[in-house]
Amino acid sequence: MDAGHVMRRFAPAATAWLALAAGVAAAGDDTTRTSSIFAPISTPADASYTAAMLVLLITAGIAIAVNGLLAYAIVAFREQPDDDGSEPAQVYGSEQIELAWTVIPILVVVVLCLVTARTVYDVQGAQKPPGAIDVTVVGHQWWWEIRYPALGIVTANELHVPVSDPAARSPTFMELESADVAHSFWLPRLAGKTDLIPNRRNHMWIEPREPGLYLGQCAEYCGTQHAHMLLRVYVHPRAEFDRWVAAQREAAVADPAVAAGRHVFETTACINCHTVRGTVATGRFGPDLTHMMSRDTLVAGAARMDPDALHAWIADPDHVKPGALMPAMNLDPTQLDQLVSYLVTLR
Ligand code: CUA
Repeated sequence: MDAGHVMRRFAPAATAWLALAAGVAAAGDDTTRTSSIFAPISTPADASYTAAMLVLLITAGIAIAVNGLLAYAIVAFREQPDDDGSEPAQVYGSEQIELAWTVIPILVVVVLCLVTARTVYDVQGAQKPPGAIDVTVVGHQWWWEIRYPALGIVTANELHVPVSDPAARSPTFMELESADVAHSFWLPRLAGKTDLIPNRRNHMWIEPREPGLYLGQCAEYCGTQHAHMLLRVYVHPRAEFDRWVAAQREAAVADPAVAAGRHVFETTACINCHTVRGTVATGRFGPDLTHMMSRDTLVAGAARMDPDALHAWIADPDHVKPGALMPAMNLDPTQLDQLVSYLVTLR
């Protein structure tokens, strides 16, 4: 194999590794690391990060020691011109060597086990403080239902939480459920992954220390649109979070100027799947639309929330998100315009 051949064979892999390394290096810029596991910003995530870095450090040390000794042996004991071809001295049953390569790995494994057990215990055994926010997340094909049972709020795909002040902690404790298949809730900078399993309740919590927008996504293949099951977490200063809560608790806007659109909404199958509080629409199969325009994204992060995207989505859901479970309602153009003009009032 000549050098050119080697390059052609390994260049793609090397390029991928370089890109990965550059990505990690670029992690200093906050916009590029909104979803980097190397930039934890919340309590459970930094516990896993510390444990993971320790494991990486120890295993990197082992890799360097083993490969270093191997490289040394290959170079130092290579064939010499004056070799007579006879076998070198064969060593059998050295007690010191046997002990060294049995005891050291056992110690390494014990240390890794203890560190891991402690991290798991810290994360899973965390006590819920009085100021905690309770959230129920239900995974659906292909969107997230987000409920705040104590606050009477239901939203979708965009989780809003307060930043946690160490003096008056307000972590968010989540109960994770699924309406259909297995999904996985993953917010790389805030916590590890936890699966959402049908007929089961899993738990996880986050305690972000810095306000901002953090991205995540479904991390368990759940069907055609698994990749478009994105998560957005808005971490607010306390006062801003309280304002968001107050706005979400308001009844839906009932603007008489869009009565025609509301009539279209209330007389088509929309109401079988969607809820708009204060109307006949009480469906639970699709996202709650009471304050849909307060969300930044549509179709679980696959599009920006704006009237044009909404129009395109309702006209032909399968075109915007192939395989999506929302059917096309086959409205005539006038009805569709009226419906969109009603929906955009739901702030
Ligand atoms: Cu839900 Cu993948």
